[in-house]
Amino acid sequence: MKICKLNATDSTSLYLKELMLSEPLEDFTVVTAKKQLKGRGQMGTLWESEVASNLTFSVFKKLDALPVSNQFMISICVSIGIYKALKKLQIPEVSIKWPNDILSGNQKVCGVLIENVLSGNKIQASILGIGLNVNQINFENLPRATSLKLLMGESFNLDEVLHVVLDSIENQFSLLNMETEKEIRISYEKLLFRKGKPSTFKNKKGELFMGFISGISAEGKLVVTLEDGISSTFNLKEIELLY
Ligand code: BTN
Repeated sequence: MKICKLNATDSTSLYLKELMLSEPLEDFTVVTAKKQLKGRGQMGTLWESEVASNLTFSVFKKLDALPVSNQFMISICVSIGIYKALKKLQIPEVSIKWPNDILSGNQKVCGVLIENVLSGNKIQASILGIGLNVNQINFENLPRATSLKLLMGESFNLDEVLHVVLDSIENQFSLLNMETEKEIRISYEKLLFRKGKPSTFKNKKGELFMGFISGISAEGKLVVTLEDGISSTFNLKEIELLY
């Protein structure tokens, strides 16, 4: 595993994408930054992180021509990898909020942004962008955010946490070839936040409705069982879980 540590860059994911164009990259090349000037989150949001308090890093993960139809397996491996790392660090009540936010209780401690490198309908590699809140204690205007320090009452060594997380993600990807896809999907579904609990959702039109998360579809969409017992599937832009 090669790790490149930067003081500052626009975004570690962007840095890796540019590096990828200039030289062939080894599987599991990692770029970390103390400060990102334009850290990016899911759905065009910004990822803000106090300088040198947290982990903001990206991993270049080579894939063996994974069919695009299986792309959700990448999300599953990264989120289970982070889940297991946080369990190892004894963080309480860890769960995965579909598709790949990592929560402790009902607060977000880690976000993931996955960008795939395609050739035709095959994924050749993926850039896994990870923001893990470690030692930051003030999250102004982000009431749902927390950090390992807030959860555990002590500071963490950033390098140690980075290695626990990287080893766990690497290990999870190696299981992709060993365990069956079905087994991995079942493990992921078991870890889902609010699985099987009555929950309120908001649809694209802003309307609220009740339902139960029952799992994910073959393509990784969220399957919600509505009050009348009928199940519907939703992509990220179509549904918001209110909690
Ligand atoms: C989310 O919105 O939850 C995803 C956040 C992902 C943030 C990480 S920080 C390292 C990498 N570089 C970026 O610009 N974004 C990801």
